Amino acid sequence: MTDVIEVTVTEKNEMNTIKINNLQKTYGLLRKKNIVRALDGVSIEVGKGEIFGLLGPNGAGKTTLIKILLGICRRSGGSAAILGHDIPSVASRKSVGFLPEDIRFPNYMKGRCALMTFGRIMRVPNLRAEVDRHLQMVGMAEAAGRKIKNYSRGMTRRIGLALALLNNPRVVFLDEPTDGLDPMGRRYIRELLMNMKERGKTIFLNSHILGEVETVCDRVAILNRGRVVRVGKVDELTDGGSHCRITVSRADDALDSALSPIMNGYARDGNAISFTVRDESELDRAIDTIRARGVGLRELVQLKDTLEDVFLKTISGENQNGPSGDN
Ligand SMILES: Nc1ncnc2c1ncn2[C@@H]1O[C@H](COP(=O)(O)OP(=O)(O)OP(=O)(O)O)[C@@H](O)[C@H]1O
Ligand SMILES: [Mg+2]
Repeated sequence: MTDVIEVTVTEKNEMNTIKINNLQKTYGLLRKKNIVRALDGVSIEVGKGEIFGLLGPNGAGKTTLIKILLGICRRSGGSAAILGHDIPSVASRKSVGFLPEDIRFPNYMKGRCALMTFGRIMRVPNLRAEVDRHLQMVGMAEAAGRKIKNYSRGMTRRIGLALALLNNPRVVFLDEPTDGLDPMGRRYIRELLMNMKERGKTIFLNSHILGEVETVCDRVAILNRGRVVRVGKVDELTDGGSHCRITVSRADDALDSALSPIMNGYARDGNAISFTVRDESELDRAIDTIRARGVGLRELVQLKDTLEDVFLKTISGENQNGPSGDN
Protein backbone atom coordinates (compact mmCIF):
# COMPACT_ATOMS: atom_id res chain seq x y z
CA MET A 1 0.00 0.00 0.00
CA THR A 2 1.35 3.42 -0.87
CA ASP A 3 1.10 6.37 1.42
CA VAL A 4 -0.73 9.34 -0.05
CA ILE A 5 0.96 12.55 0.87
CA GLU A 6 -1.28 15.52 0.52
CA VAL A 7 0.50 18.70 -0.42
CA THR A 8 -1.20 22.03 -0.16
CA VAL A 9 0.39 24.61 -2.36
CA THR A 10 -0.12 28.08 -1.06
CA GLU A 11 0.86 31.04 -3.15
CA LYS A 12 4.04 32.78 -2.03
CA ASN A 13 3.39 35.46 0.53
CA GLU A 14 0.58 37.54 -0.96
CA MET A 15 1.99 40.77 0.45
CA ASN A 16 5.26 40.46 -1.40
CA THR A 17 4.58 42.23 -4.67
CA ILE A 18 5.99 45.50 -3.35
CA LYS A 19 7.96 45.36 -0.13
CA ILE A 20 9.41 48.55 1.31
CA ASN A 21 11.47 48.35 4.46
CA ASN A 22 12.58 51.41 6.46
CA LEU A 23 13.28 53.44 3.34
CA GLN A 24 15.04 56.76 3.87
CA LYS A 25 15.88 59.64 1.62
CA THR A 26 17.69 62.82 2.49
CA TYR A 27 18.19 65.35 -0.29
CA GLY A 28 21.14 67.77 -0.23
CA LEU A 29 23.58 65.54 1.62
CA LEU A 30 26.22 65.67 -1.12
CA ARG A 31 26.44 69.45 -1.10
CA LYS A 32 25.68 69.48 2.61
CA LYS A 33 23.21 72.30 2.29
CA ASN A 34 19.43 72.69 2.04
CA ILE A 35 19.11 69.25 3.58
CA VAL A 36 15.58 67.82 3.36
CA ARG A 37 14.57 64.52 4.94
CA ALA A 38 12.00 63.45 2.35
CA LEU A 39 11.56 59.86 3.63
CA ASP A 40 12.13 59.01 7.25
CA GLY A 41 11.87 55.24 7.59
CA VAL A 42 8.95 54.21 5.37
CA SER A 43 7.79 50.57 5.48
CA ILE A 44 4.88 49.43 3.32
CA GLU A 45 3.83 46.09 1.82
CA VAL A 46 1.51 45.71 -1.13
CA GLY A 47 0.02 42.41 -2.26
CA LYS A 48 -0.75 40.99 -5.69
CA GLY A 49 -3.89 42.42 -7.25
CA GLU A 50 -4.18 45.23 -4.74
CA ILE A 51 -4.88 48.86 -5.57
CA PHE A 52 -2.84 50.73 -3.00
CA GLY A 53 -3.14 54.49 -2.53
CA LEU A 54 -0.43 56.68 -1.05
CA LEU A 55 -1.86 59.93 0.30
CA GLY A 56 -0.14 62.88 1.86
CA PRO A 57 0.10 66.65 1.74
CA ASN A 58 2.35 68.41 -0.77
CA GLY A 59 5.97 67.61 -0.02
CA ALA A 60 5.15 64.54 2.09
CA GLY A 61 7.51 62.35 0.03
CA LYS A 62 5.09 60.42 -2.24
CA THR A 63 6.86 61.10 -5.53
CA THR A 64 10.25 60.54 -3.92
CA LEU A 65 9.11 57.09 -2.79
CA ILE A 66 8.00 56.07 -6.28
CA LYS A 67 11.18 57.47 -7.84
CA ILE A 68 13.34 55.44 -5.47
CA LEU A 69 11.36 52.27 -6.16
CA LEU A 70 11.92 52.78 -9.89
CA GLY A 71 15.61 53.58 -9.57
CA ILE A 72 15.15 57.19 -10.71
CA CYS A 73 16.65 58.56 -7.53
CA ARG A 74 18.89 56.99 -4.91
CA ARG A 75 17.81 55.98 -1.46
CA SER A 76 19.80 57.11 1.59
CA GLY A 77 18.92 54.00 3.61
CA GLY A 78 16.60 51.02 3.94
CA SER A 79 15.62 48.52 1.27
CA ALA A 80 12.80 47.63 -1.09
CA ALA A 81 11.87 44.91 -3.55
CA ILE A 82 9.39 44.63 -6.42
CA LEU A 83 8.16 41.14 -7.34
CA GLY A 84 10.94 39.72 -5.18
CA HIS A 85 13.76 41.66 -6.87
CA ASP A 86 15.71 44.16 -4.79
CA ILE A 87 15.77 47.75 -6.00
CA PRO A 88 17.55 49.27 -7.79
CA SER A 89 17.97 46.58 -10.43
CA VAL A 90 16.89 45.92 -14.00
CA ALA A 91 15.00 42.83 -12.79
CA SER A 92 12.93 44.91 -10.36
CA ARG A 93 11.80 47.20 -13.22
CA LYS A 94 11.17 44.54 -15.82
CA SER A 95 7.44 44.07 -15.24
CA VAL A 96 6.67 47.58 -14.13
CA GLY A 97 4.75 50.46 -15.74
CA PHE A 98 5.06 54.07 -14.61
CA LEU A 99 3.13 57.28 -15.13
CA PRO A 100 5.28 60.15 -13.78
CA GLU A 101 3.79 63.14 -12.00
CA ASP A 102 4.99 65.56 -14.65
CA ILE A 103 5.42 63.61 -17.86
CA ARG A 104 7.16 65.39 -20.76
CA PHE A 105 7.91 64.29 -24.30
CA PRO A 106 10.33 65.71 -26.88
CA ASN A 107 8.79 68.65 -28.80
CA TYR A 108 8.76 66.92 -32.17
CA MET A 109 6.89 63.80 -30.98
CA LYS A 110 3.34 62.99 -31.99
CA GLY A 111 1.14 60.77 -29.82
CA ARG A 112 1.46 57.60 -31.88
CA CYS A 113 5.16 58.24 -32.54
CA ALA A 114 5.84 58.43 -28.77
CA LEU A 115 4.16 55.10 -28.11
CA MET A 116 5.91 53.46 -31.08
CA THR A 117 9.32 54.83 -30.05
CA PHE A 118 9.14 53.83 -26.39
CA GLY A 119 7.37 50.60 -27.27
CA ARG A 120 10.34 49.64 -29.45
CA ILE A 121 12.73 50.42 -26.61
CA MET A 122 10.63 48.21 -24.31
CA ARG A 123 10.46 45.53 -27.03
CA VAL A 124 6.69 45.29 -26.86
CA PRO A 125 5.55 42.35 -29.01
CA ASN A 126 3.06 43.06 -31.79
CA LEU A 127 3.77 46.74 -31.27
CA ARG A 128 1.65 48.43 -33.95
CA ALA A 129 -1.53 46.62 -32.88
CA GLU A 130 -0.76 47.23 -29.20
CA VAL A 131 -0.22 50.95 -29.81
CA ASP A 132 -3.57 51.17 -31.64
CA ARG A 133 -5.29 49.27 -28.83
CA HIS A 134 -3.82 51.52 -26.14
CA LEU A 135 -4.62 54.72 -28.08
CA GLN A 136 -8.23 53.53 -28.29
CA MET A 137 -8.21 52.56 -24.65
CA VAL A 138 -7.22 56.04 -23.44
CA GLY A 139 -9.46 57.82 -25.96
CA MET A 140 -6.59 59.28 -27.99
CA ALA A 141 -6.90 57.46 -31.33
CA GLU A 142 -8.21 60.55 -33.15
CA ALA A 143 -5.53 62.92 -31.88
CA ALA A 144 -2.67 60.40 -32.22
CA GLY A 145 -1.27 62.12 -35.35
CA ARG A 146 -0.88 65.50 -33.64
CA LYS A 147 2.20 66.81 -31.84
CA ILE A 148 2.13 66.20 -28.09
CA LYS A 149 3.44 69.71 -27.41
CA ASN A 150 0.08 71.00 -28.70
CA TYR A 151 -1.97 68.62 -26.55
CA SER A 152 -3.87 69.82 -23.49
CA ARG A 153 -2.58 68.67 -20.10
CA GLY A 154 -5.23 65.96 -19.83
CA MET A 155 -4.45 64.67 -23.35
CA THR A 156 -0.74 64.44 -22.51
CA ARG A 157 -1.56 62.47 -19.37
CA ARG A 158 -3.71 60.07 -21.36
CA ILE A 159 -0.75 59.36 -23.68
CA GLY A 160 1.40 58.94 -20.56
CA LEU A 161 -1.05 56.43 -19.18
CA ALA A 162 -1.08 54.48 -22.45
CA LEU A 163 2.71 54.41 -22.25
CA ALA A 164 2.65 53.18 -18.66
CA LEU A 165 0.48 50.22 -19.67
CA LEU A 166 1.97 49.46 -23.08
CA ASN A 167 4.34 46.70 -21.95
CA ASN A 168 1.54 44.81 -20.15
CA PRO A 169 3.18 45.35 -16.71
CA ARG A 170 2.37 43.29 -13.63
CA VAL A 171 2.90 46.26 -11.33
CA VAL A 172 1.91 49.81 -12.23
CA PHE A 173 2.99 52.99 -10.46
CA LEU A 174 0.79 55.99 -11.16
CA ASP A 175 1.74 59.40 -9.77
CA GLU A 176 -1.44 61.52 -9.74
CA PRO A 177 -3.12 59.58 -12.58
CA THR A 178 -6.26 61.70 -12.84
CA ASP A 179 -4.61 65.09 -12.46
CA GLY A 180 -5.81 67.32 -15.31
CA LEU A 181 -8.38 64.85 -16.61
CA ASP A 182 -11.97 65.80 -17.33
CA PRO A 183 -14.80 63.97 -15.46
CA MET A 184 -15.19 61.40 -18.27
CA GLY A 185 -11.44 60.76 -18.19
CA ARG A 186 -11.50 60.31 -14.42
CA ARG A 187 -14.34 57.86 -14.52
CA TYR A 188 -12.61 56.06 -17.33
CA ILE A 189 -9.39 55.72 -15.32
CA ARG A 190 -11.39 54.38 -12.35
CA GLU A 191 -12.92 51.70 -14.56
CA LEU A 192 -9.55 50.94 -16.11
CA LEU A 193 -7.94 50.47 -12.68
CA MET A 194 -10.74 48.15 -11.53
CA ASN A 195 -10.38 46.17 -14.72
CA MET A 196 -6.61 45.86 -14.25
CA LYS A 197 -7.14 44.70 -10.68
CA GLU A 198 -9.49 41.99 -11.91
CA ARG A 199 -6.70 40.80 -14.18
CA GLY A 200 -4.40 40.47 -11.18
CA LYS A 201 -2.32 43.61 -11.74
CA THR A 202 -0.96 45.43 -8.73
CA ILE A 203 -1.45 49.19 -8.72
CA PHE A 204 0.35 51.71 -6.55
CA LEU A 205 -0.96 55.22 -6.91
CA ASN A 206 -0.31 58.64 -5.45
CA SER A 207 -3.31 60.91 -5.39
CA HIS A 208 -4.81 63.98 -3.81
CA ILE A 209 -8.29 63.15 -5.10
CA LEU A 210 -9.49 61.40 -1.98
CA GLY A 211 -13.01 60.67 -3.20
CA GLU A 212 -11.52 58.67 -6.05
CA VAL A 213 -9.02 56.94 -3.82
CA GLU A 214 -11.87 55.93 -1.52
CA THR A 215 -13.73 54.40 -4.44
CA VAL A 216 -10.91 52.42 -6.05
CA CYS A 217 -8.26 51.64 -3.44
CA ASP A 218 -8.24 48.52 -1.27
CA ARG A 219 -5.75 49.98 1.19
CA VAL A 220 -4.13 53.33 1.72
CA ALA A 221 -1.21 54.79 3.62
CA ILE A 222 -1.08 58.38 4.78
CA LEU A 223 2.38 59.88 4.55
CA ASN A 224 3.30 63.04 6.42
CA ARG A 225 6.77 64.58 6.46
CA GLY A 226 8.30 61.39 5.16
CA ARG A 227 6.63 59.05 7.67
CA VAL A 228 3.70 56.68 7.37
CA VAL A 229 1.25 57.95 9.96
CA ARG A 230 -1.67 55.64 9.12
CA VAL A 231 -2.11 52.58 6.97
CA GLY A 232 -5.03 50.24 6.51
CA LYS A 233 -8.06 49.18 4.52
CA VAL A 234 -10.20 52.11 3.40
CA ASP A 235 -13.22 50.64 5.25
CA GLU A 236 -11.26 50.31 8.48
CA LEU A 237 -9.86 53.82 8.34
CA THR A 238 -13.25 55.38 7.70
CA ASP A 239 -14.88 53.32 10.42
CA GLY A 240 -13.98 55.70 13.23
CA GLY A 241 -17.66 56.21 14.10
CA SER A 242 -20.40 58.18 12.48
CA HIS A 243 -21.87 61.50 13.21
CA CYS A 244 -25.62 61.46 13.97
CA ARG A 245 -28.04 64.32 13.81
CA ILE A 246 -31.54 63.78 15.21
CA THR A 247 -34.36 66.25 15.04
CA VAL A 248 -36.74 65.65 17.94
CA SER A 249 -40.24 66.94 18.71
CA ARG A 250 -39.12 68.82 21.82
CA ALA A 251 -35.62 69.26 23.22
CA ASP A 252 -34.87 70.94 26.52
CA ASP A 253 -32.28 71.12 29.32
CA ALA A 254 -33.61 67.88 30.83
CA LEU A 255 -32.93 66.00 27.58
CA ASP A 256 -29.45 67.55 27.45
CA SER A 257 -28.75 66.32 30.99
CA ALA A 258 -29.91 62.81 30.10
CA LEU A 259 -27.91 62.54 26.85
CA SER A 260 -24.73 64.55 27.30
CA PRO A 261 -23.15 62.18 29.88
CA ILE A 262 -23.74 59.09 27.72
CA MET A 263 -23.21 60.33 24.13
CA ASN A 264 -19.84 61.41 22.71
CA GLY A 265 -19.66 64.94 21.29
CA TYR A 266 -23.22 65.78 22.33
CA ALA A 267 -24.48 69.18 21.11
CA ARG A 268 -27.91 70.77 20.61
CA ASP A 269 -29.20 73.49 18.34
CA GLY A 270 -32.92 74.09 18.98
CA ASN A 271 -34.67 70.78 18.41
CA ALA A 272 -31.70 69.30 16.54
CA ILE A 273 -29.30 67.25 18.63
CA SER A 274 -26.05 65.71 17.42
CA PHE A 275 -23.43 63.25 18.69
CA THR A 276 -21.08 60.56 17.42
CA VAL A 277 -21.63 56.81 17.72
CA ARG A 278 -19.19 53.93 17.29
CA ASP A 279 -21.84 51.27 16.65
CA GLU A 280 -25.58 50.70 16.33
CA SER A 281 -26.05 49.82 20.00
CA GLU A 282 -24.91 53.33 20.94
CA LEU A 283 -27.44 54.79 18.56
CA ASP A 284 -30.18 52.55 20.02
CA ARG A 285 -29.23 53.75 23.51
CA ALA A 286 -29.67 57.38 22.46
CA ILE A 287 -33.04 56.65 20.83
CA ASP A 288 -34.26 54.71 23.90
CA THR A 289 -33.27 57.60 26.17
CA ILE A 290 -35.10 60.11 23.99
CA ARG A 291 -38.26 57.96 23.69
CA ALA A 292 -38.25 57.13 27.44
CA ARG A 293 -38.73 60.84 28.08
CA GLY A 294 -41.80 60.92 25.84
CA VAL A 295 -39.95 62.91 23.15
CA GLY A 296 -40.70 62.04 19.49
CA LEU A 297 -38.17 61.49 16.68
CA ARG A 298 -38.70 63.54 13.53
CA GLU A 299 -35.55 62.96 11.46
CA LEU A 300 -32.35 60.96 11.81
CA VAL A 301 -29.28 61.60 9.65
CA GLN A 302 -26.18 59.45 10.05
CA LEU A 303 -22.96 60.62 8.37
CA LYS A 304 -19.92 58.32 8.18
CA ASP A 305 -16.40 59.72 8.08
CA THR A 306 -15.09 60.05 4.55
CA LEU A 307 -11.48 59.35 3.65
CA GLU A 308 -11.07 63.11 3.37
CA ASP A 309 -12.26 63.52 7.00
CA VAL A 310 -9.80 60.84 8.11
CA PHE A 311 -6.98 62.44 6.12
CA LEU A 312 -7.61 65.95 7.44
CA LYS A 313 -7.97 64.77 11.03
CA THR A 314 -4.82 62.65 10.80
CA ILE A 315 -2.67 65.36 9.26
CA SER A 316 -3.91 68.16 11.51
CA GLY A 317 -3.46 65.94 14.60
CA GLU A 318 0.06 65.03 13.46
CA ASN A 319 1.07 68.58 12.73
CA GLN A 320 -0.17 69.76 16.13
CA ASN A 321 1.38 66.98 18.19
CA GLY A 322 4.04 65.38 16.02
CA PRO A 323 7.70 66.20 15.62
CA SER A 324 8.42 69.24 13.51
CA GLY A 325 10.72 67.35 11.08
CA ASP A 326 13.30 68.87 8.83
CA ASN A 327 11.13 69.95 5.99
N1 LIG B 1 15.49 66.77 -6.31
C1 LIG B 1 15.22 67.26 -5.11
N2 LIG B 1 16.15 67.98 -4.43
C2 LIG B 1 15.89 68.48 -3.20
N3 LIG B 1 14.73 68.30 -2.55
C3 LIG B 1 13.78 67.58 -3.18
C4 LIG B 1 13.97 67.04 -4.47
N4 LIG B 1 12.84 66.37 -4.84
C5 LIG B 1 11.99 66.51 -3.81
N5 LIG B 1 12.53 67.23 -2.82
C6 LIG B 1 11.92 67.55 -1.52
O1 LIG B 1 11.51 66.36 -0.90
C7 LIG B 1 10.26 66.55 -0.24
C8 LIG B 1 9.27 65.53 -0.78
O2 LIG B 1 8.98 65.85 -2.13
P1 LIG B 1 8.02 64.94 -3.03
O3 LIG B 1 8.06 65.49 -4.43
O4 LIG B 1 8.41 63.53 -2.85
O5 LIG B 1 6.60 65.21 -2.35
P2 LIG B 1 5.14 64.75 -2.78
O6 LIG B 1 4.55 64.07 -1.60
O7 LIG B 1 5.19 64.00 -4.06
O8 LIG B 1 4.41 66.15 -2.97
P3 LIG B 1 3.23 66.57 -4.00
O9 LIG B 1 1.95 66.14 -3.37
O10 LIG B 1 3.34 68.05 -4.04
O11 LIG B 1 3.48 65.93 -5.32
C9 LIG B 1 9.86 68.00 -0.48
O12 LIG B 1 10.26 68.76 0.64
C10 LIG B 1 10.67 68.39 -1.70
O13 LIG B 1 10.97 69.77 -1.70
MG1 LIG C 1 4.38 64.29 -5.92
